[in-house]
Amino acid sequence: MRTKYAVVFIFVVALVIIEKESNILSRVSDKLIQRQTPQLTSQKDNDTAPRSSVDLLELLLAQQPPATNNKSDFIEKEKVDEMEHVSSQRNSGGRKHVLLMASTRTGSSFVGEFFNQHGETMFYLFEPLWHVERMLATAAEGTNGTLLPGIYRDILQALFLCDFSPLEKFISPSPKNHVTPDLFRRESSLSLCEEPVCTPVVKDVIERYHCKIRQCGPLNLTLASESCLSKQHHAIKAVRVRQLDTLRPLMEDLRLDITVIQLVRDPRAILASRMVAFSSKYKTWKAWAQDGQVPENDEEVKRLKGNCDQVRVSAELGLSKPNWLKGRYLLVRYEDIARYPMQKAEEMYKFTGIPFSSQAREWILRNTQTTEEASGIYSTQKNSSEQAEKWRIKIPFTLVQVVQKVCGPTMKLFGYKFVEDEKTLINKSISLLEDKQFP
Ligand SMILES: *[C@@H]1O[C@H](CO)[C@@H](O)[C@H](O)[C@H]1NC(C)=O
Ligand SMILES: *[C@@H]1O[C@H](CO)[C@@H](O)[C@H](O)[C@H]1NC(C)=O
Ligand SMILES: *[C@@H]1O[C@H](CO)[C@@H](O)[C@H](O)[C@H]1NC(C)=O
Ligand SMILES: *[C@@H]1O[C@H](CO)[C@@H](O)[C@H](O)[C@H]1NC(C)=O
Ligand SMILES: *[C@@H]1O[C@H](CO)[C@@H](O)[C@H](O)[C@H]1NC(C)=O
Ligand SMILES: *[C@@H]1O[C@H](CO)[C@@H](O)[C@H](O)[C@H]1NC(C)=O
Repeated sequence: MRTKYAVVFIFVVALVIIEKESNILSRVSDKLIQRQTPQLTSQKDNDTAPRSSVDLLELLLAQQPPATNNKSDFIEKEKVDEMEHVSSQRNSGGRKHVLLMASTRTGSSFVGEFFNQHGETMFYLFEPLWHVERMLATAAEGTNGTLLPGIYRDILQALFLCDFSPLEKFISPSPKNHVTPDLFRRESSLSLCEEPVCTPVVKDVIERYHCKIRQCGPLNLTLASESCLSKQHHAIKAVRVRQLDTLRPLMEDLRLDITVIQLVRDPRAILASRMVAFSSKYKTWKAWAQDGQVPENDEEVKRLKGNCDQVRVSAELGLSKPNWLKGRYLLVRYEDIARYPMQKAEEMYKFTGIPFSSQAREWILRNTQTTEEASGIYSTQKNSSEQAEKWRIKIPFTLVQVVQKVCGPTMKLFGYKFVEDEKTLINKSISLLEDKQFP
């Protein structure tokens, strides 16, 4: 009898929740769709485009934050029990998935290469979410950006399952017959540059070629998907996923066997690096560097604090080892990778359960011992330990003080030492790194 009541009760509650949320969601998605109409409905292809509103709604629905009242706690709890029951029965066919979660200028391109260079059994994607951010960041502004994380997660989920169609909707201009010359940084993904995904270039067709190792025609996403399905392991690098908690449904998807590697770096070094790499976006900081004054209530300072806090909150969650992340979360400091690249790469591979290949090993050897600095801000070919310290002579001490003030708890958690004066900052025989293990 009691179960009967419980079932009816859950049913009613669920109806109420669904109705409430679908009202909100339909308003939000109408808004998104209105603004996105040109891109999302211009495609003629029946199987990709016209379902866009439904898809968006699905995307939006899927990422609703869990309700916090008792009733849905109850529903949630039942789901968890069920999950625990089957949690060891992953259905990924031995396939491992790696999500390299980072922020910009943390060395994520470099670390991504550890996996990209693994060899024939790896399918690697470099920043696929770039397309989503470009198309939705402004549209979602009115919603505080709270919608993006769920959309990011759902796109990642599809990509880990080798389904490019959700991503396709965000590629602009829209792919024609699932073919596009515009995939962001295709050349950074070896698997998209090798046969058969690399289709021969047709002469006298003026398309942009996207691979360094050989010239390829535009990317056929159907071929990419087939290649993905044929590979034993999948890795994706993403600097746009900022909140680890939003990934929970992805981690609980039994078709996947995901490890999240969160890559962090000294926030002082990140700021120094961003001021060079994103010069115009960081011109306020550069002006402050010049006149030595930083208004602490400025939006830029708040944004820095927000970024640091997000990284820390995610790391705290990961390190607290909730059930859904147990054995699936690894925190890595860029500085440790720079000092001991091979050892750290081995550790990462071991943690993911993917065998460390000789190709990856060779790549790391080649790219951490050279003294020649390749040009270009996104270059990964640098003497890594030297490179990792350069920021110390580049950033003015005033800015270091600001970072230490607003990112203090983050720095403490990761073991980055504070400096009290400029002398210490620029004296490279003083290490700013505590030796720290993240269990
Ligand atoms: C579009 O797809 C629907 C469902 O898959 C199908 O019934 C319909 O005939 C298709 N329309 C065209 C124009 O291909
Ligand atoms: C429901 O939640 C409230 C506050 O969140 C709490 O005081 C109350 O004990 C909860 N009821 C049950 C049945 O869990
Ligand atoms: C969204 O913005 C409003 C006001 O602009 C603010 O009060 C609220 O806390 C924000 N919500 C989130 C989740 O950032
Ligand atoms: C893309 O590849 C698929 C799978 O081989 C093929 O069927 C399709 O014709 C290709 N598309 C184009 C436009 O070449
Ligand atoms: C890389 O840089 C570090 C720090 O300057 C230096 O000690 C090391 O010898 C360099 N390695 C090579 C191979 O040049
Ligand atoms: C740098 O620090 C070391 C160790 O504390 C110290 O011996 C050395 O004198 C310092 N160098 C300068 C230039 O201050």
